[in-house]
Amino acid sequence: MPQDRAPVAEGRDRPRPAVSVRFAQVRGWNAAIVDFEPGTNLYGTGEQPGRLNRGGICRDIWTTDCFGYEEHMPSLYQAHPWVLAVRKDGTAFGVIYETTHRATVDLRDGIFFAAKYTTRDTQSPGVVILEGCDAADVLRQLASKVGRMQMPPRWALQYQQCRWSYETDARVRTIAEGFRSRKIPCGVIWMDIDYMFGFRCFTFDTEKFPNPRDLNDHLHAIGFKSVWMIDPGLMTDEHYPAYRSGKHGDHFVKNRWGYDYVGKVWPGPCSFPDFTRKRTREWWASLYADYMATGIDGVWNDMNEPAIFDVPNKQMPESNLHEADENLGGRGNHLRYRNIYGMQMVRASREGIQKANPEKRPFILTRSNFLGGHRYAATWTGDNKSNWRHLRWSIPMVLNMGLSGQPFVGPDIGGFADKADATLFARWMGIGALLPFARGHSVRDSVDHEPWSFGPKCERTCRLALERRARMLPFLYTLFREAHLTGLPIARPLFFADKSDPALRSVDDAFLLGDSVLARCNVWEPGAGAATAKLPAGDSAWLAFEPLEMGSEAEKGSKVFDDDLPELFVRAGRIVPLGPVMQFDGERPVDPLTLVVALDESQSAVGELYEDSGEGYGFEKGDFALTKFTARSGPDGVVVTAKRAEGVFPTADRKTEVVVLRHGQAPTRGRFERS
Ligand code: GLC
Repeated sequence: MPQDRAPVAEGRDRPRPAVSVRFAQVRGWNAAIVDFEPGTNLYGTGEQPGRLNRGGICRDIWTTDCFGYEEHMPSLYQAHPWVLAVRKDGTAFGVIYETTHRATVDLRDGIFFAAKYTTRDTQSPGVVILEGCDAADVLRQLASKVGRMQMPPRWALQYQQCRWSYETDARVRTIAEGFRSRKIPCGVIWMDIDYMFGFRCFTFDTEKFPNPRDLNDHLHAIGFKSVWMIDPGLMTDEHYPAYRSGKHGDHFVKNRWGYDYVGKVWPGPCSFPDFTRKRTREWWASLYADYMATGIDGVWNDMNEPAIFDVPNKQMPESNLHEADENLGGRGNHLRYRNIYGMQMVRASREGIQKANPEKRPFILTRSNFLGGHRYAATWTGDNKSNWRHLRWSIPMVLNMGLSGQPFVGPDIGGFADKADATLFARWMGIGALLPFARGHSVRDSVDHEPWSFGPKCERTCRLALERRARMLPFLYTLFREAHLTGLPIARPLFFADKSDPALRSVDDAFLLGDSVLARCNVWEPGAGAATAKLPAGDSAWLAFEPLEMGSEAEKGSKVFDDDLPELFVRAGRIVPLGPVMQFDGERPVDPLTLVVALDESQSAVGELYEDSGEGYGFEKGDFALTKFTARSGPDGVVVTAKRAEGVFPTADRKTEVVVLRHGQAPTRGRFERS
């Protein structure tokens, strides 16, 4: 029977929710049913394969290892008890289902959440409704409730190269050199599990990686950062220091009889730190001190659903026990805490990395996470496959993660499982290079998946795609700053540009970067389709642009015509800042700065640029520069004026050039003035 229990309603100028919530017991589960008007589109729900529009799905909220996932699978690696609903008129509301328990979200006939409880804790989870004037407004409110992404180090915005695994120190050096000799921009190399000694975390294989410090120094010297993997399971080997200290400190998850639970992962039998407890997080954090001292720049926390081998459901028993902090809910079973295990792991890792290098901004990538976990780590869409369907999903998956509060996300470019071919790889690189997190990665037994692995045509496309990203880095960094301050996604669905057009509500082969750039992508196998997404508010509002053909930088290269790359557009009335092509961030100063101006009907445009040192915390004390640009067309042509809006970071000594876009005409030059 429905219970009489008022949902918590929040949101500007809306003391009461315009939606109603009913609570009920359904077949032993606690359920919340949210009623709303027909014609409302549903999004969010975190990490889900499939289309942008999430209406019609029914999924578990239950973190699950799912290699090569497909749409019929009940759940993926992350848990986001969250739905964003956009009404016909563009107003929106969000629904947070306030539980960490195993739950279900059913959007086949409205919004239905249900949580599975053990008999002892039957209290129905609460529901929070966030009312907003549009989707962006709701996402800002979500961020003020669950937190914002911390500013990442700027290096983490570059293209990154990964493989399971670059198995030796020599192989890593060869790959790094391969990028430099071919002049393909790349800033980060990743070390997957094989660098460890017998898959024991916080160790190094003494033959394959004899001197990690030396390798990191070498990579740094040629402009690469390094990211190394750490999993949660510690091998139950009394001679292994991390395990011994965990055992000694009684830090592991217990089975229902109170003994350390043991489950098999890469190294064999493992115990699992109970990250829900503060003192265990502190112990785990302390393990990073010596590890980071080898010059490691970033950490990849994988398998943290947590995944267990050799059991059919790849999970530890729901009856396992966690000694969680009181503010998380106190002692409870795995049914209650599994969904936040990965999130609490990256929380602990972040603390450790921060402590090891207090002057640097941590970068962590996580596979599992929970609503709000973007405060601790970036994420990727897990073990996808090298096929066209998974390429297509990578856009709506990234967009829905952004609509669930996680802005820093991307797919394994090229696909993880199976083998890509030249066209698939080229198209995927073109799209992936424009998404917030851009990393190529592939499974152990796949063919090589580096940008040069599929012949010269594909290599050229990859180079162009990554040169585009390199040029767009100042623009992207400005968007990351906005995401950090507001919670707005970096990659956004097209309906953000025009909430009145119902046709934009389901576009999943195009996306916006901030509110000024649009990417229209060809996600179809040759012969099967083309890039068709309708542009918001008609073609005249968007001007085609090719970053590699803008300004003096463009004169160095040949014209870019490549059907495999997404088409890019600038919104009329906006200015987009570009830097020069660099092989890696910081290779040289951002000079010249190129301002791409798309005039609107009133012959004007505005834009902004955020800059800081790219690392550290000086920006929190004003050591940054926020520059606002205004363009006007007058008798002397187009003039852009720049005004320092905030911050004291020095940027003055460089050339700034202005490129003006007009429909159907070649770009022309304008003038730049500092006010
Ligand atoms: C998992 C990860 C994958 C990684 C592999 C080996 O499958 O999702 O990215 O390469 O483990 O560590």
